[in-house]
Amino acid sequence: MNPVVVYFSHAGENFINGISKKVSMGNTEVLAHKIVNRLNCPLIQLKEMACYPESYDETVKCAEYEKKENRRVAYQKIELDRSKIDTLFLGYPNWWGSYPRIVATFLEDFDTDGLAIYPFCTHEGSAFGSSMNELKTQCPNADIRSGLPVRGSRVERADVAIENWLLAYK
Ligand SMILES: Cc1cc2nc3c(=O)[nH]c(=O)nc-3n(C[C@H](O)[C@H](O)[C@H](O)COP(=O)(O)O)c2cc1C
Repeated sequence: MNPVVVYFSHAGENFINGISKKVSMGNTEVLAHKIVNRLNCPLIQLKEMACYPESYDETVKCAEYEKKENRRVAYQKIELDRSKIDTLFLGYPNWWGSYPRIVATFLEDFDTDGLAIYPFCTHEGSAFGSSMNELKTQCPNADIRSGLPVRGSRVERADVAIENWLLAYK
């Protein structure tokens, strides 16, 4: 099996248990690193071209607009050879009930036919929201496997959950 971990995560202001905190690494990024350490495979971060604001509220507004307008969100060039992978571990924060538009844009650009996709997300209560269904719609010829949702404030304690989840893969 040839997996790759691709994720998007937003550093800056975040809310941990309802308290505003500035973080240099987003929750999904922490989770992605834990997963890649176990899989020993390439790790690719999706980074937006025009940075999201530091402010949580401003980012929420931006994301709402992108979602309403079904915007494509330009991201920095990534090195990913589709012919060399068969499994995609796809990580994202739940934004407005699903994956952020930058992730949707990546999925529009990337050939997911025949790919096994293991989604993982971080959230503040709504787990995957509707993102698993949206993934199935957006990637109809991919094999969407069971996902790992982790509450943002609990990513540091997610090791056992990750191990259990990866049993389905290994
Ligand atoms: C724009 C935006 C929208 C969000 N929408 C939701 C949501 O609908 N449901 C939810 O449970 N959490 C929501 N959250 C909380 C994030 O999913 C949560 O803080 C996540 O862990 C952030 O991951 P990150 O640090 O990797 O960006 C939202 C956060 C932002 C910034």
